[in-house]
Amino acid sequence: MGKFNIAIDGPSGVGKSTIANLLAQHYHMTHLDTGAMYRCVAYYFKNNQIDLNDSESVQNALDSIQIAFDQDRVYLNQEDVTNSIRLNEISMAASKISKLEAVRKKLVFLQQEIAKNKGYILDGRDICTVVLPDAEVKIYMDASSKARAQRRYDEYVQKGIDADYETIFQDIVARDYQDMHRKNSPLRIAEDAVVVDTSDLTIEEVLNKIEDIIEDIV
Ligand code: C5P
Repeated sequence: MGKFNIAIDGPSGVGKSTIANLLAQHYHMTHLDTGAMYRCVAYYFKNNQIDLNDSESVQNALDSIQIAFDQDRVYLNQEDVTNSIRLNEISMAASKISKLEAVRKKLVFLQQEIAKNKGYILDGRDICTVVLPDAEVKIYMDASSKARAQRRYDEYVQKGIDADYETIFQDIVARDYQDMHRKNSPLRIAEDAVVVDTSDLTIEEVLNKIEDIIEDIV
């Protein structure tokens, strides 16, 4: 089996990152969590009070942002933001700033640069459709909004992050709407992606299913 890329899209809280991490271990590949990159931009814009309607400020801000990954840590201009970018307010802010063309242009470019040597697993909203349309493996993970809210709630509790189920559920519904109805690269199923509905599956079952799909393709 030669080097290949895996592209995974899907809505918030469907478990893309968890599965991508496990696949990365199994196939000795590198996982790039593209959602974390949008979260970093949102965090920076929020802290620096960038006016989203002012395209010059947006571009200047984008030019001064450096995102780095080290193992499971995320760094924004050398600050460890791994936990702070997971807060609910940043999730909503990420969904908002991800509509901007300048933001998408910068992050899509970085993601394509990283993945060009193959051996990467990217997960996000536009990976199969825009970032890596030529990826060897393309998966769309889906699950009901209730199942996703419950999972995200459990994940927060486990990580010791303050959480309220109802707020998470409402945020997931609102983010789905924003991500699917925006003009630039809306979340949609690529024509040649394999859809995996994970609502009633355990992590292990999802992993097995996706590994079967991968082994059929590569
Ligand atoms: O995946 P995650 O929930 O961390 O992503 C946060 C937000 O970033 C999403 O709601 C979406 O608006 C945006 N995003 C995107 N394109 C990607 C990854 C994330 O627009 N490839």
